[in-house]
Formats: sequence, structure tokens, C-alpha cells
Amino acid sequence: MTGASRGIGAVFADKLWQLRPDLDEIWCISRSYNDDSSSEDFEHSRSQGSRLRYLRLDQSDDHFGDKIRNHVERHHATIGYLILNAAYANYGDVNTQDFSQADQMIQTNIRGTVAAVYSLNDLFEKNAHIILVSSISAVAPTPGLAVYTASKAFIRHWGICLREELKPHRVTVTICYPGKVQTTALRDVVTQAKSVKLRLMPEQNLNYLVERTLRAAERGRAEVAPGLYGLVMALFKSAPKRAVARFARLV
Ligand SMILES: NC(=O)c1ccc[n+]([C@@H]2O[C@H](COP(=O)([O-])OP(=O)(O)OC[C@H]3O[C@@H](n4cnc5c(N)ncnc54)[C@H](OP(=O)(O)O)[C@@H]3O)[C@@H](O)[C@H]2O)c1
Repeated sequence: MTGASRGIGAVFADKLWQLRPDLDEIWCISRSYNDDSSSEDFEHSRSQGSRLRYLRLDQSDDHFGDKIRNHVERHHATIGYLILNAAYANYGDVNTQDFSQADQMIQTNIRGTVAAVYSLNDLFEKNAHIILVSSISAVAPTPGLAVYTASKAFIRHWGICLREELKPHRVTVTICYPGKVQTTALRDVVTQAKSVKLRLMPEQNLNYLVERTLRAAERGRAEVAPGLYGLVMALFKSAPKRAVARFARLV
């Protein structure tokens, strides 16, 4: 489970534990887990008998895939669930944004996500599940968040194909499309963009989003956009993309 230290990811880890008590351990990955050694790949179980394991890894690292695989192999583990949730969003456009920010979004949201699946591909159990966290913005190209929304469109496009590719191996892929969820990432973007439109968008209940997504994954569904945002997504999908981009521009 990547990006488990806060926001949507933290709730995923919690709810997965409740839904699937048969899983031996849940591995939570982020960059900010406490580290009293200077080891880059610090890992520990939270308390005796705990089934949570914390791994300090950077998904934007060029060697992220190899590092994750090393951990899994070292513990002779197999994978029942892989939830790829970590992502980075930075407001700005080609005229104002430093390329390093765009690059960080590409590395984290696209490269790191793809690397995880490629490096773990032969370690999935039969009937394993992959959840890819995209965004409703995958169907709403948004000036001001162009690279971020394009990275989410990539995850959607790739995830749909990945589902077909993994079918023969009995691994299901479910793509989750959150709408607007009150998290650190959202607060940062709202502050950066100062967008009235973004402020006025209705908030989605975090527990509801995660519960519906896990249930959808258990049922083997391909895509899940719970609640009102499911309708918004259907609308965006059918509208011409250039019109959506004009409408979605953050002002
Ligand atoms: N919130 C929304 O309204 C919304 C809407 C649509 C889609 N989403 C999607 O939902 C997912 C979760 O978003 P959120 O709102 O919960 O974000 P968040 O609160 O910022 O949490 C992001 C998580 O990802 C981790 N992370 C970020 N960069 C990382 C990296 N390079 N390596 C490892 N871990 C990294 C963060 O931990 P560290 O910083 O400690 O590494 C944190 O645990 C993302 O894919 C986001 O695009 C969110």
C-alpha cells in the first residue's frame, strides 16, 4: 500500500485490515515514516503482534521497483493486494512552474506506479487485487494541473490495459477515481491555486470512498467512482475534451 502515511492511503490501510483479516501483514509505504537509523529503507513492525509494517521508500526514486521487490523477497512474501495510491500534485503551468515539479509528478505518479507492478508481477497470489488510485481529473484535463491530470489519465489508460493483461493470471485490477477529498494534498493545491471553483466543489466522504473501492475490488470491478462524482465523471467522459479543459481551468 503506497502513500499510507496520511489521507486516502491511511484509510485504505485501516479498512483493508478490517475487510481482509486473512492477510498476514499490511505493508505501508511512504517517505516519512520515522527513522532513527539513517537507513533509506527503514522498516519495522509497529508493535508486537501488529500486522502493519512500515517501509520508508520514495516512489519517485529511480530504483523504487527494485527496492520494493527486495523487501518482498527478503520476507519470502507473496502479494494478495497491491494498492498504488501515492501521488504528488503541484499547481502551476508551463509558464510558471519549475520543470523539477513537473518531473516529480511524472516520476511519482507514473514511473513509480508502473515500476511497482513490473517489479512485483510474478509475486502475486492467485485472485490477488491491484487498486490503482487515479482521479476524476483523469477525464478532465485541467490547465494549472495539466501534468497531474495527465498523469491520472495515464493511470486510467494503463490500468484498463493492465486489467486485460493480468486476467489470465487471475489478478484483478480496479481503478479508483476520487473526486474532492479533504486531505493534505488537496489543501496544498487549494492554497497554491487560490481557485474559487476548487473551493466550491463538494467534498467526498473519505470512508465512503475507500469502503466502496475495496468492495468494488473484492467483486472484481474494473472502475469505481463512488457517489456524485461518478455522475460528474460520466458527464466529463462524454463531453469534448477541449470544452472540458476550458471549463475545468482553475480560476
Ligand atoms: N484528495 C483528493 O481530493 C484527491 C482527488 C483525486 C485523486 N486523489 C488521489 O488520491 C491519492 C491520495 O491522495 P491524498 O489526497 O490522500 O494525498 P496526501 O494526503 O498528500 O497523501 C499522499 C501520500 O502519498 C505519499 N507520497 C507522496 N509522494 C511520495 C513518494 N515520492 N514516495 C512515497 N510516498 C509518497 C505521502 O507520504 P510521504 O509524503 O510521507 O511520502 C502520503 O502518504 C493520490 O493518488 C491522489 O492523486 C486525491
